[in-house]
Amino acid sequence: MKKTLNVGLIGFGMIGKAHAYGLASLPFFAPGLTVAPRIFGVATSRAETAETARQTLGCELATTDWTALIENPAVDVVHVCAPNAEHLPALLAAIRCKKPIYCEKPVVSNAAEAATVRAALAETGYDAPTQVAFHLRGFAAIRRAKELIASGRLGRLVRYRIGYYHAGALDASAPFRWKHAPSGGTILDLASHLLDLTDYLVGLPAELTATATTLWPTRPERAIRQGENAADVPTRPVEAEDAVSILTRGLSRPAKNDAASDPTNPAALTGVVEATKLATGAEDEMTFEIGGTQGAVRFSLMEPHYLEFFDGTKPSGPNGGESGWTRIAAGARYEAPECDFPSAKSTTGWLRAHVASLATFYRSVGEGGSFGPDLAQGLRIQDALDVVKRSVASRRWESL
Ligand SMILES: NC(=O)c1ccc[n+]([C@@H]2O[C@H](COP(=O)([O-])OP(=O)(O)OC[C@H]3O[C@@H](n4cnc5c(N)ncnc54)[C@H](O)[C@@H]3O)[C@@H](O)[C@H]2O)c1
Repeated sequence: MKKTLNVGLIGFGMIGKAHAYGLASLPFFAPGLTVAPRIFGVATSRAETAETARQTLGCELATTDWTALIENPAVDVVHVCAPNAEHLPALLAAIRCKKPIYCEKPVVSNAAEAATVRAALAETGYDAPTQVAFHLRGFAAIRRAKELIASGRLGRLVRYRIGYYHAGALDASAPFRWKHAPSGGTILDLASHLLDLTDYLVGLPAELTATATTLWPTRPERAIRQGENAADVPTRPVEAEDAVSILTRGLSRPAKNDAASDPTNPAALTGVVEATKLATGAEDEMTFEIGGTQGAVRFSLMEPHYLEFFDGTKPSGPNGGESGWTRIAAGARYEAPECDFPSAKSTTGWLRAHVASLATFYRSVGEGGSFGPDLAQGLRIQDALDVVKRSVASRRWESL
């Protein structure tokens, strides 16, 4: 008999729905879990939206008082799905209650808040399982890339390029949202994913330099209604960047695997990290290519079924020999106890990676251990994001 766990869901916007979908799907995708999470209560910013969420979810409780929801003794696990600026108080409440936390990225809004979270973890002796929703790690193809790098199949890493491309900020009429405030922005929103993946696959850089841009200095403070003259709608200044380009050098600490590092020339590894919401024509395109002395991998979120691998040890020859890129069909070929429902050959997608990410979290809740990325990793990335912002402001190379 699985132990039922009551989830308190803080926020039910776009990503709160993805968490709810994932939780409802876990019995099919991760039948081996020893726990059975179910949503008990939901908190949103307005009573009407909270009640609508409660009805959609079929759960017991709807509230605008998220602290009360976190503190409710019936709640076993807290999911933080509110806007970035609301993460800190929610995290502090959950840490105080020593409840397991599944937190959306970025963990908080800046390095000062990250320090506050670290202090709270230390003061309370918090030791419950945590995970940050860097869900891109939930793609089997990305896990395969990590295996290939860690086992030395790429040789010593020499370069990488990783990017996240959206088009949403091109539209001048799109109204101001929390993502346009200082606690929003593309660095926190998209580069957070990229730096976590960089760390997962390669290691964080020793130093970086970055530049950022904002296309429209103001935005309408609300949606422009049909037939309304846009010039009649009051505007608000945009206080966050739409795009950031980062150059990186070296590794910030001994690499997680020998293959990635060259102790004699650590600065030889260079990278380009680009996150933008100004990529005309883009949908939700995260891509990377990582090259080493013996091989390379590349991935596109628009074709998440596949990882491409170049094995430089394969001989070239007349008519090509065996040299060239191989497409590995990773799909949903997850390691047990996660299963490959609906079937390994079915195409895989964005929501599936969220489910895979939830599955590892609830494995650690049920069985102990941490599969990561845990809160400590999220806080490390938070510090790195602050270094990016520091470099944008200073226009210099900054160390991590
Ligand atoms: N991992 C991913 O793929 C991914 C994708 C999108 C968003 N996110 C992250 O998820 C978080 C939420 O983003 P979103 O796009 O769902 O935002 P959203 O604006 O769509 O929804 C935010 C929700 O939080 C609620 N809310 C606002 N203030 C609150 C408060 N004080 N207490 C409780 N609820 C409150 C709102 O009512 C709403 O339900 C952000 O941190 C964002 O970075 C992650």
